[in-house]
Amino acid sequence: MFEALPDAKPDAILALMQEFRADTRTNKLDLGVGVYKDGEGKTPVMKAIKSAESKLIDTQETKAYVAPTGSAPFCSAMIDLVFGADADKTRIRAAQSVGGSGALRVLADLMRRSRPDAKIWVSDPSWPNHIPLLGAAGFELARYPYYDVNTGKADIDAIIGSLSTAASGDIVVLHGCCHNPTGADLSQDDWNKIIDVMLEKELFPFVDIAYQGFGKGLEEDAMGVRLLAERMPELVVAASCSKNVGLYRERVGAAIVMGRNEAEATRAFGSLTTVIRSNYSMPPDHGANATEIVLTDGALNTQWREELESMRVRMVGLRKTFSDAMRKRSNSDRFDYIAEQNGMFSRLPLTPAQIDTLRNDHAIYIVGDGRINVAGLPEGSIDELADAICNVIAESEQS
Ligand SMILES: Cc1ncc(COP(=O)(O)O)c(C=O)c1O
Repeated sequence: MFEALPDAKPDAILALMQEFRADTRTNKLDLGVGVYKDGEGKTPVMKAIKSAESKLIDTQETKAYVAPTGSAPFCSAMIDLVFGADADKTRIRAAQSVGGSGALRVLADLMRRSRPDAKIWVSDPSWPNHIPLLGAAGFELARYPYYDVNTGKADIDAIIGSLSTAASGDIVVLHGCCHNPTGADLSQDDWNKIIDVMLEKELFPFVDIAYQGFGKGLEEDAMGVRLLAERMPELVVAASCSKNVGLYRERVGAAIVMGRNEAEATRAFGSLTTVIRSNYSMPPDHGANATEIVLTDGALNTQWREELESMRVRMVGLRKTFSDAMRKRSNSDRFDYIAEQNGMFSRLPLTPAQIDTLRNDHAIYIVGDGRINVAGLPEGSIDELADAICNVIAESEQS
């Protein structure tokens, strides 16, 4: 049976995590992993979620199936979170999904049923898993340049230039906020320019929002989705609760469709249900149920928002401290962009050889494209980290 299968290529980030675990040096530092970490290097269960889970265990009386699209109140709370409590929900429908990845995949499958010849445009760079995930749905992929390494900002002219060459009906994947891996987000003006091109070229927006609440705040981070919902006739959104509710392994997310009218939204939702049913039948319940509680229970909702906000503020502070340390050590402003970006990631302008030296000689683990997880920055020894990075850059620039 299995003789014809190729050897699987290991996922670069997962392979780096394995190498880190096996490293016996006590001073090792993991800046590669894609999960939030607190000051002790832990990824704790949020307190609001712990309380919701206790409540759930005390009150749940059955483990019978829910539905292919999961819990309706969870879905409704997710629409409120992403589109805003005041949004017109008559043409928006959501299905509970197996994390943000599951939402990306079922939405891609849904659109492939409707538009098999469309190309799907993904930013370059992007979250590496976008490529196999969306490619596996059968779409031909195209890339649009996203990032200007010289400014540390999104390169709006390059984005517009590239999307202007897309064909009518093509699908464009946009990171809702906290772009992974660059941390460079679109301004309101940038979003409007992209929407202008999408309207002119009749492109279809596919938003991936995996870090709502990690950038500028829960409401602020939804600005792009909400502008799209206001100005575009239709769109889809893959929302993840892995990061902002901290439920990574429980696999919680939502696949959301907004149709041109109520009838089309209902039709799209019907097909989405069929896609899910023919794939894994039903999503897992526990994490979504706990999330539903923190999104709808007044006191737990307040507690969750406060916890999320303190994580966000911690990351903003770490960005500033690290950027200041890099400014001092490098005697230049080339790393100032780190403080201006959003979310959990930034990209350092490091060569593969410099990344290897940091890992081999300093036990500092950074993903091969220079992506660092700012939540993993060591609060007490950021100056030492900046020293190591700047020394490695300076040494290799001299040689
Ligand atoms: C940009 C982006 N989208 C989607 C996801 C999917 O997350 P999950 O499937 O864990 O919810 C991630 C996770 O790292 C991500 O970075």
